[in-house]
Amino acid sequence: MEAKQTSRRSGIMECRNALKNRSSAPIEDRIPPSKVAQRTAPIFGGYKNHLLVNATDAYIDAHKDRFLNELLDLLRIPSVSADPKYKSDVARCADAVKQRMVEAGLEKVEVCPTKGHPIVYGEKIVDPAKPTVLVYGHYDVQPPDPLELWHSGPFDPVIKDDLIYARGSADDKGQFYMHVKAIEAMMKSGGLPCNVKVMIEGEEEVGSDNLGLFVAANKDRLKADVVLISDTAMIANDCPSINTGLRGLSYVEVEVTGPNRDLHSGVYGGAVANPINALCEMIASLHDADRRITIPGFYDAVQELSAAERKALAEAPFNEEEYKKDLNIEAVRGEKGYTSEERSSIRPTLDVNGIWAGYIGEGAKTVLPSKAFAKLSMRLVPNQKSDAITKLFKNHFEKIAPPGVKVEVRPHHGGEAAVTPIDSPAYLAASKAMEETFCKKPIPTRGGGSIPIVALFEAELGLKTVLFGFGLDSDNIHSPNEKYGVFNYFQGIRTIPRFFQHFAATGRR
Ligand code: BES
Ligand code: MN
Ligand code: MN
Repeated sequence: MEAKQTSRRSGIMECRNALKNRSSAPIEDRIPPSKVAQRTAPIFGGYKNHLLVNATDAYIDAHKDRFLNELLDLLRIPSVSADPKYKSDVARCADAVKQRMVEAGLEKVEVCPTKGHPIVYGEKIVDPAKPTVLVYGHYDVQPPDPLELWHSGPFDPVIKDDLIYARGSADDKGQFYMHVKAIEAMMKSGGLPCNVKVMIEGEEEVGSDNLGLFVAANKDRLKADVVLISDTAMIANDCPSINTGLRGLSYVEVEVTGPNRDLHSGVYGGAVANPINALCEMIASLHDADRRITIPGFYDAVQELSAAERKALAEAPFNEEEYKKDLNIEAVRGEKGYTSEERSSIRPTLDVNGIWAGYIGEGAKTVLPSKAFAKLSMRLVPNQKSDAITKLFKNHFEKIAPPGVKVEVRPHHGGEAAVTPIDSPAYLAASKAMEETFCKKPIPTRGGGSIPIVALFEAELGLKTVLFGFGLDSDNIHSPNEKYGVFNYFQGIRTIPRFFQHFAATGRR
């Protein structure tokens, strides 16, 4: 069955406005021409700027086929950061990104090697007295498997019903490339209104370990007034929103060992602890009947939101019936006392991401295995520290091991949560820019995913971030048939120059 372009918050009637039409019209009809810019011209602060935005729109319009084809070419490179067998493809992708940044008019463009995959950096300083925007994105992608569930090859992009199907189309190639094209369009149609630095990394999907070192070692080079990232989702195409928070992450792998070898489940079963049974019991005990996490101290640092803050968040449209229907589930499930929206954004979680052990081949094998494994993620909220939570988990998990098994907890990557302001010049510039292109003021929302580097930008560079994402929750990121709307791609390219325009006018810190 064909996946429908829905959002988890879809079914919102009041959001139907000027930009309804996205599905089958040719690109030229889907990009509303300069009408919007004309209607909103006064807020650009004068005739010259007004013309500039129109010229930029015109440039984008004139080059839209090339802009789309270039993205498809990038999507053909399988830049999977997690799997060493793609290492040379990741490197090839970095070179391609560098080449594209040079062509867009950026200067000092460099592929910076790291201990892992390279970082691509470039900049254009038009006037040191003007504000500087640091654009961040990632060219690496998640592994494509399970391959058999894709309707077309993950690295063989296909446009169907105006959706670009490919691994990385939304996360994050399609989104970071909007910036490269927006920068090109601004430069070719009157120039950049302020300075820009662009840093695109190749290890976001594996924890950004080397980016942290790069940022710490390049503080001067990365000096800026704000970080701009397109790597998140909006509520719906006719209901724009801006993420103002991300969750942190603690990721662990556990190994439960029972007897020193696999045993016949009849000969030994009943008398020896089965590590799979033990692991399942242990995991099950990590939530109580109210779906709260039972690890002592887990909630200690959690900042509860005020009633007013919760009320404000609840104003974002959300249709639980549509949400269930989209996922084909009969009921939602989560922590007592919180809505689905809250459970998936402002509350911490614990989930098993993978579990393996014993016999999983054809037919039956009566065996009591020696070992069982699982990978678990805990999504964290502001104030919870990733390392501290990992320690709490480790202590607790070792303690609850039943007699007869040994437990080992191995920490993977982690990251801190982040909240971004909604009253900064940069947020207001982003909000205005979106309002102009969507004909609707974006709603601030809190996101559930993690981009650990956001907290690091703040800690290392003292910079706040604007999460200027144009994806949808229904884009299937990290999943088969990842997709990104052609509409969303061009809407981003048209909106970004407007952000630059507004930020240039107000953004110097
Ligand atoms: N772009 C996502 C994060 C995201 C997606 C934030 C949707 C908000 C809404 C990013 O590429 C990602 O997948 N991050 C990882 C964390 C990383 C440490 C592996 C995540 O959230 O699982
Ligand atoms: Mn991403
Ligand atoms: Mn991702």
